[in-house]
Amino acid sequence: VSAPEDLRGRKAPIELSATEFREMGYALVDRIARHFDTIAERPITPAESPDQVRRLLGLDQSIPTEGVEPRRLLEEVSEALFDHSLFNGHPRFGAYITSSPAPMGVLGDFLAAAINQNVGAWKLSPLATEIEAQTVRWIAEFIGYPTDCGGLLVSGGNMANFICFLAARREIAGPALRASGLGTDDASRLRIYASMNTHTWIQKAADLFGHGTDAIRWIPVDGKQRIDLTALEARVRHDREQGDNPFLVVGTAGSVGTGGVDALGEIGAFCRETGMWFHVDGAYGALAALVEGAPADLAGLKDADSIAVDPHKWLYAPLEAGCALVRNFEQLKNAFSYHPSYYHFEEEALNYFDFGMQNSRGFRALKVWLALRQVGAEGYRTMIADDIRLAAHLYKLVDAHTEFEALSHSLSITTFRYVPPDLDAQTGPDQRKNYLNSLNADLLTRLEQCGEAFLSNALVDDKFALRMCIVNFRTSLDDIEALPGLIARLGRESDADLRKSG
Ligand SMILES: Cc1ncc(COP(=O)(O)O)c(C=O)c1O
Repeated sequence: VSAPEDLRGRKAPIELSATEFREMGYALVDRIARHFDTIAERPITPAESPDQVRRLLGLDQSIPTEGVEPRRLLEEVSEALFDHSLFNGHPRFGAYITSSPAPMGVLGDFLAAAINQNVGAWKLSPLATEIEAQTVRWIAEFIGYPTDCGGLLVSGGNMANFICFLAARREIAGPALRASGLGTDDASRLRIYASMNTHTWIQKAADLFGHGTDAIRWIPVDGKQRIDLTALEARVRHDREQGDNPFLVVGTAGSVGTGGVDALGEIGAFCRETGMWFHVDGAYGALAALVEGAPADLAGLKDADSIAVDPHKWLYAPLEAGCALVRNFEQLKNAFSYHPSYYHFEEEALNYFDFGMQNSRGFRALKVWLALRQVGAEGYRTMIADDIRLAAHLYKLVDAHTEFEALSHSLSITTFRYVPPDLDAQTGPDQRKNYLNSLNADLLTRLEQCGEAFLSNALVDDKFALRMCIVNFRTSLDDIEALPGLIARLGRESDADLRKSG
């Protein structure tokens, strides 16, 4: 047999020598350290258009045939990313629910990629699997949930909620569902109960998993923006009378718009009485459950059948890291486990392919676990409490300011809007409402473009509100105190331009 001799001392073009790797790695770490050190002095965003950004890459470039010198490549690309990105790690970034990445988490991701564990099976990732299991137990403990629950890390809040949704459905509909799908009468009439404040993952779940969005019963909210329990009870009763199959109630611990928390204890009691599954979307707020200053209703999440929690929100993990927790370990496995003939994995070991949608899985847990060890539960509770205190202070500042209307504060989200002091003299109520909505939408665009602060918006009682969400360990009191002045200046400019244009 003639051997392919050229493969004996194989030299793959993708390999880096230890010297190259070390030099490139050190230089990159230096650049990242400089970035963290100077982030507060830089604009949050270069506010470029999609066309401008696309042009940086060359519009008609096809895939390169030949490779390039790796040092230069990494240098060029890292500089480009530092110059053309929006930095959610900036102290004045307070949009959506996207945190500053913990530097320890950044290093954790680097290390995780280097050892490249496949955390689908214990045998392929022994220590990594156990670290993920410990991370899940620690997250449960941190929020006051039983630590013998089932759980796993996923990419984020949507995926964590999907995992819980599927576990709920399998448990309530029974094992036949996995073979016969939603074709049977009982399964086709499964119904979901959620408030209008529920995040859009619920529509995606109902749609993608075959129920259709019409299977969602949208329950109104009360004056405090919480799911209306009387309306919930009435709707479930009515649906049962019609032959429907109510199976899931979604409570929200920290709504995406205003940080509102449902009356979780009462929802839990209702679910226990009616045999329904109680799921809590705590992607944002669950992590504040045992934090001083957090809403008392969060205590009710300990009774949930499942909870979605996002380490990439209030544990400041770099994207991506979500976590699904299901009270009964077996119920999680029942929804996902399959054992193909080519698997040779010990049944008694923890094999994460058994617990979720992914087969091969990366080592997301490392960045979360490292940061939990770095600062401990107390460190996290202090940081979360500080975020809440800063949001509360912003509420007070805008409330005391003559050009703002403070609208809401819950957890670390504050909403408000700019109101020109002389507006009432000039307009009637309808005109006023429309004008203020347009004005604040325009103001937000100006704010996004200016690079000095970055907020997002919420609709609060039909009012277009500016919304600051602080899941940011870099935000300080100075940053909060700077906001009213900056936003009022942009508000005045916007108001003047809108009045001119008529
Ligand atoms: C309450 C809530 N649920 C779910 C999600 C979705 O999380 P992710 O964007 O990580 O998928 C969010 C995102 O902000 C959220 O606030």
